[in-house]
Amino acid sequence: MRILFLGPPGAGKGTQCKKLAQEKHLPHLSSGDLLRDAVASGSPVGQAAKGYMEKGQLVPDHVLIDMFKERLSGKACSQGFILDGFPRNLAQAEALDSMLKEIKAPLDVVINLQLPDHLLTERITGRRTCPNKSCNEVYHITFHPAKDGKHCDKCGTELVQRSDDKEELVKERLKVYNDNTAPLIRYYDDALILRTVDANGNENDIFADLIKTLSSVSVKA
Ligand code: AP5
Repeated sequence: MRILFLGPPGAGKGTQCKKLAQEKHLPHLSSGDLLRDAVASGSPVGQAAKGYMEKGQLVPDHVLIDMFKERLSGKACSQGFILDGFPRNLAQAEALDSMLKEIKAPLDVVINLQLPDHLLTERITGRRTCPNKSCNEVYHITFHPAKDGKHCDKCGTELVQRSDDKEELVKERLKVYNDNTAPLIRYYDDALILRTVDANGNENDIFADLIKTLSSVSVKA
């Protein structure tokens, strides 16, 4: 199945995509994780992206388009994939359409995770992440705390707060989402592949709802 997730920052895209990737044995392609890895490694992509990410702004389209073109046409994605964070504006969505047309792999469904703005801020500012690249586990100081509150339960690495998760940046990230990404809801609704899932509630209940929603989707050849 070829699945794309939409949703504002903090809606729980990463959380649900990771669970879904395990359940369905599909690769999870997160633009944010890929960019953060690139920044950490100091690669040319990372150097190009760093300044934009620190300001909560979108990284230039060509960086993302090149990054996804290479991955989507790879063998790992031949049985399907889960896209998280790309596309993020109309130009990227159109570029994705052409890439998928070229490899004859159209999207089966777009999941729109919906959560009101006032709940997003608490989710974002309370997030703590494991900086160990091979782990990347995500916690929340209130909703999903690590056992000792400081270190990753899985690998023991000290947890950090993402530099763009500070309260002063959240407003900007939500504005960027509303101006650039929210219009894609209409775009995919017009393409008749949009499904909305309520992202307010318990992680497991949302996941159950997601699985139920996906069970009604017909997979394209
Ligand atoms: P990215 O990493 O994609 O950030 P985002 O879209 O802003 O999404 P988040 O990672 O903040 O949230 P999420 O929805 O995944 O929530 P999560 O599951 O972690 O992008 C970062 C930056 O990279 C962008 O600002 C931009 O600069 C750049 N970028 C990325 N893609 C780009 C593109 N295509 N074009 C240009 N630039 C691009 O959950 C959040 C918290 O809530 C966690 O702590 C979690 O534990 C908790 N939580 C999750 N579910 C629940 C629940 N049900 N109840 C309570 N708490 C919950």
